[in-house]
Parts: sequence; C-alpha cells; structure tokens
Amino acid sequence: MPSSRPDVMDKLVSLCKRHGFIFQSSEIYGGTGSVWDYGPLGVELKRNIKDHWWRAMVRSRDDIEGLDAAILMHPRVWEASGHVAGFTDPLVDCKTCKGRFRADALADARCPQKPSKRPGEWEACDLTAPRQFNLMFKTFMGPVEESASVVYLRPETAQGIYVNFLNVQQSTRQKIPFGIAQIGKAFRNEITPGNFIFRTREFEQMEMQFFVEPGTDMEWFERWKAERMTWHLTLGLDAERLRYHQHTKEELAHYARAAYDVQFDFGGTLGFQEIEGVHNRGDFDLTRHQEYSGKKLEYFDQPTNRRYVPYVIETSVGADRVTLAVLVNSYREETVDGETEGRTVLGLHPSLAPIKAGVFPLVKKDGMPEFATALAADLRARFPVFYDESGSIGRRYRRQDEVGTPFCITIDGQTAADQTVTIRERDTLRQERIAAVAVGDYILERITR
Ligand code: GAP
Repeated sequence: MPSSRPDVMDKLVSLCKRHGFIFQSSEIYGGTGSVWDYGPLGVELKRNIKDHWWRAMVRSRDDIEGLDAAILMHPRVWEASGHVAGFTDPLVDCKTCKGRFRADALADARCPQKPSKRPGEWEACDLTAPRQFNLMFKTFMGPVEESASVVYLRPETAQGIYVNFLNVQQSTRQKIPFGIAQIGKAFRNEITPGNFIFRTREFEQMEMQFFVEPGTDMEWFERWKAERMTWHLTLGLDAERLRYHQHTKEELAHYARAAYDVQFDFGGTLGFQEIEGVHNRGDFDLTRHQEYSGKKLEYFDQPTNRRYVPYVIETSVGADRVTLAVLVNSYREETVDGETEGRTVLGLHPSLAPIKAGVFPLVKKDGMPEFATALAADLRARFPVFYDESGSIGRRYRRQDEVGTPFCITIDGQTAADQTVTIRERDTLRQERIAAVAVGDYILERITR
C-alpha cells in the first residue's frame, strides 16, 4: 500500500553513490542485477548497525551465544529444512516482452512495455503458465560438475545454528532457555528484486534462534516480538514509521506456527514493508535434522531428568534492509534561517554515523591547518574523523551534513591564543566554544549510548 510519506529512494541512491555509501556491483561492466557494493561510508554505517545488534543480542546478555557458521553446508541440510522442495516462487514469463514476474504478485507488477497495465492485462501480453522456481543458488563442490557434488549458497543463516545446536549447548553448558545468534551472508535468486538494497540477491542477515521448553514458546514469542521492536527504536527509527504485521495462515512459512513482521514505512509506493520477522518455528527444524541426519538433537533437562526437542523462537532481520530503513528515516531536506541555500541532512543517530566529527581549519594559514591536523590525528585514535580544508566553511559543513556527521570542529583565529575551538552540532546548528583538549570526551559522551 502506498505511503503518505514522500518517496526519497532516487535521491538516496544518488546521494549514496556521490558520497561513497553504496555502488552498483560491477558497475563498469554494466552492473550485476540487484547486487550492491558498500563504499567507504556505507561499510561503516552497516558495520555500526551490525555491531549495535551484536551488542544487544550477544555481548550484553548471558543467555545468547554467538556463532559464525559456514555459508556452504551439506546439501542434505536443505532437504531437511524444506528448502529444496518448498523454497520456491511461482514464475511466469511473458513471451512478448521477455519479462519475468511472480505469478502471486502480478497485482503489484507493471507491464514493461505498457506501464499503465499489469502483466497479462494488455492485449500484446502473452504469459506462460506458472512454474515453480527454486530461489536457492546452486554450485558444485570439487572439480566435477555433477549432481552428486551440488551444494547451495545458504538462503538463510538459521540452518547453520540448528545443526550446531548441541555443539554450542554442550560447549557452553547453557541451559534452556537460551539462544544462538549469528550475522552472515545469505543468497536468494529473487525473481523480482529491486528498490535499491531492499530486495537483493546477496544480502546479510542477523538471526537469533532462541531454544525454549515446549509450552513456553508463545510466552517467549511475545517477549521477543516486543524486544525486537524496542531495538529498532534504539536505532533512531521513528515510532510512527514502525508497526507489526501478523502473518495470516496463508502467509505463514512452511516452518512457522506463528509469525509477526516488524514493518517500516519506506515512503512512496513501497510504503510499509517487512524489515524483520519474528517466528515461532516450534520443533520443525531440529526434528527434521534429527530425521535426516540420524543424530539426536535433544536437550537433557537435569532437574526433571527429561529429554526433549526444544521449540525455537527466531528473530531474523536483514542488515541491508535495516541500513536502507535507517537511511530513508534520516534523509531530510530543509531550509536554514538566514540562509538562501537549503541543506540536505542525514539525521543519523550519532552512534551509527560513519564519521563522528569533521575537523576544519577556518583558513589555510596562521598555523590553523597544523593545529587541525594534529587534533584530527588525536581524535582519530578514538573515533572516525574527517579532515577537510577545501572550499568555504559553509560548503564543508554541508558536505558533512549530507553524510550524517553529527559534529564539526573549526579551528579559527582565536585557537592559537586560547587553545579553544568551535564545535557545531548537525541537527540544532548550535555552536559552542570549548577547549581543544576537551573535544574528544565531549564527542565520545554524545556518540555512545
Ligand atoms: N530465517 C528466516 C528468514 O530468513 P525471511 O522473512 O525470509 O526469514 C528475514 O527473511 C529477513 O531477511 C527479512 O525480514 C529481510 O530483512 C531480510 N531479507 C530476506 N530476503 C531478502 C532479500 N532478498 N534482500 C534483502 N534482505 C532480505
């Protein structure tokens, strides 16, 4: 459903390229379909988001352990998980325009030759019957390309956690309820990718599987549903742009007993879309892996002397999709009192901003560049800073506003006399004069949560 908020996607794509956040993959060869590369600022932003998730989900808790499982797994894993048989989308081709569409999403698609119509609605459209298309990328392990050596690029990180459930539980001596979390790449040969980094063929997931005693699963499901929404708010996403969507029976994935999406309003025609899924997967995955591997994946509960297959509550969020939500949420164009030229700002939460401070000498003389360079080097040991001496001071401020830098420090004529600098805050435009030696602590206090 279209949103009442403006569509900023095209402006964002252009800003991201201009400032080195995100580039199209293999651009000099004409690009790779729906695959993107993160540039110097983008990699910092996404890393800050992933670090924030890791801190909240692993480091600050004693009931969740971290894991980094391999992308390539035994092919039987994907038979057990149901992905070989069921991870499919119905695909239709148009023999006229050679377009490819998801048969179950024709209502949201446009005919490439007649964009006012949906595929199949225009007289020249010639759609094939739907056929099931598996979204997993296949490759071969070893030198021989034969069916016996087929392996898949994982379409979700979750399975790496399930197959390691007992390894982690026994090595850490965790007791149920406890969770295992990981961040890693996932791959899906999406039929209709698009909307920049919203739906891509290679992306990163931040997933956590929480193992609980059967019967307590719905209580934990509700707890994780609430906890994950709170996390999105701590990123600085506006509360009015976030909501839950409960899956209907028809929408539930093959493994899910209950599911909620956390949705974010991306504005424009995209509107509210899923950024995270919270799923009650019951004992589906562990039971299937027991069956297919022939190995027991039971938990032994010492106090009650009972063995059981735990139920799983999963929280699954896309690092790229959240990065896009953060960018969309923070993008704004505004006028500034007393200035004719407006400004574009990324109002990123200071802890997520790729650069924490810009350091500028007011002019390139009178010892100002030397003082500023030394201050920048000093601060760089504590957080990322950007030194800039080119162009007018106003232009330098604008450049940092556009990439979300929360503070700019200017070294001016007074600095040499009293060792003070001005520090300007991105959102309020307030300027304060403080001692140069106090700048590091001043900024650190404001960028750490
Ligand atoms: N393990 C469960 C699972 O993978 P999902 O709803 O298919 O569930 C979870 O995916 C999250 O992964 C989504 O909410 C989204 O943020 C991200 N995601 C899924 N497919 C994606 C794609 N093609 N491009 C970018 N992010 C994607």
